[in-house]
Amino acid sequence: MGPEVLRCEPPHFWHHEANHKQPRQDMKINTQVAIIGAGPSGLLLGALLAREGIEATVIEQRSPDYVLGRIRAGVLEQGTVGLLERAGVADRLHREGLPHDGFDLCVDGVRHRIDLARWTRGKRVTVYGQTEVTRDLMDQRQAQGWPSFYDAQEVAVHDFDSARPRVTFSVQGVQHEVQADYIAGCDGYHGVCRASVPAQALTTYERVYPFGWLGVLSRTPPVSDELIYSNHERGFALCSLRSPMLSRYYVQCSLQDKVEQWSDDAFWSELRARLDAPAAAALVTGPSIEKSIAPLRSFVAEPMRFGQLFLAGDAAHIVPPTGAKGLNLAASDVHYLSQGLIERYREGSPAGLDQYSDRCLRRVWKASRFSWWFTSLMHRFEQSELSGGPMGYRLQQAELEYLVQSEAAMTAMAENYVGLPF
Ligand code: FAD
Ligand code: PHB
Repeated sequence: MGPEVLRCEPPHFWHHEANHKQPRQDMKINTQVAIIGAGPSGLLLGALLAREGIEATVIEQRSPDYVLGRIRAGVLEQGTVGLLERAGVADRLHREGLPHDGFDLCVDGVRHRIDLARWTRGKRVTVYGQTEVTRDLMDQRQAQGWPSFYDAQEVAVHDFDSARPRVTFSVQGVQHEVQADYIAGCDGYHGVCRASVPAQALTTYERVYPFGWLGVLSRTPPVSDELIYSNHERGFALCSLRSPMLSRYYVQCSLQDKVEQWSDDAFWSELRARLDAPAAAALVTGPSIEKSIAPLRSFVAEPMRFGQLFLAGDAAHIVPPTGAKGLNLAASDVHYLSQGLIERYREGSPAGLDQYSDRCLRRVWKASRFSWWFTSLMHRFEQSELSGGPMGYRLQQAELEYLVQSEAAMTAMAENYVGLPF
């Protein structure tokens, strides 16, 4: 037998747009899975469960506009696209997403193509912004009337070591209590779920890199149809895109840098200086429509399950963005978690949930390794102890030369970039 199924009857929940309709009294809600966080992991989990008739309630501390305003990842693995198809939210992705069969590595001003399709026997990635993935999932959730609470304050998780975990929060001064069979902690690196686990139950691993990424979004045609990852003596640069008229660029910057210190002109001239001559000549510049600095870190928390609380996505792990793995790892966690929950509710079997943490962590560590390797290979940080000094620098140069000349090395790189199976 599966856990008791408790149905949440209307009018106990409303979508955020109807929050104002809530009566001014405490609300008690029953649901099967309480999902904390309406980022890509929380929303995708909700969608995959809903397709199997499992009811989830999403609780998000920010407004929908705030969530959609965050510019983040842009590259989807084939497995992630498959999950979005299964969730029934891939129509726009197939219309507007840009399939990519390869990317360029630019080393000391010379470009080398990594042919993903060739080295992986036809696999590819799709360029489609995280914002768009989130919007598609949000729109579907709203259209289906699945319960969501936005602008939730003082979100707290309780009793997850018991059979009846609870979540409490308030919306516009009205206190809510959600009682669930399970809690999914999809609330990102700074969320409340991992922070609520007793410290002695958690082992964490962390590496903070001695540089950040300054990112700019601009309404300009991308400099290239495919991504360019550049290792230049002035530092790393990345040319990416969102659409034929929307470009996303990054340059490695100092952790001390403040975004206000970087004028658009300074950004464009630094980016141009780090590209090969043809790309530098072709670069079209324009006003930035978003500009931000992100520090780079690797972080893993183990395990990813505590009683009836399951962590997924950035709540459990962070990778530096060089390998474009953050969002894709969130998707594979959600795959394992949805499978475990579906098995539990359909067949009464806890096996998938019991294996959840181990299954996720095996893939998480492999993606963390790839992201660390690609980050270490492409950035310039000779001054830092982490780089291994002058010897480390020469080894980095040798590895780059080997990578662009060896079919075996390009195959390994391509296999990881398109995403390991799950
Ligand atoms: P999130 O997207 O962080 O979503 C978590 C949600 O939980 C948020 O909406 C948050 O508001 C909500 N929340 C937090 N606390 C609470 C609470 N107490 N109660 C309720 N809700 C809460 N990856 C790439 O591959 N490429 C990139 O270029 C890239 N750039 C990034 C830039 C930044 C600044 C960051 C932070 C991440 C970036 N990533 C990138 C990583 C990628 O965006 C994440 O891996 C991805 O967003 C993970 O999704 P998630 O749903 O697990 O977490
Ligand atoms: C992006 O488009 O934002 C992007 C692409 C590839 C990465 C990181 C970020 O490796």
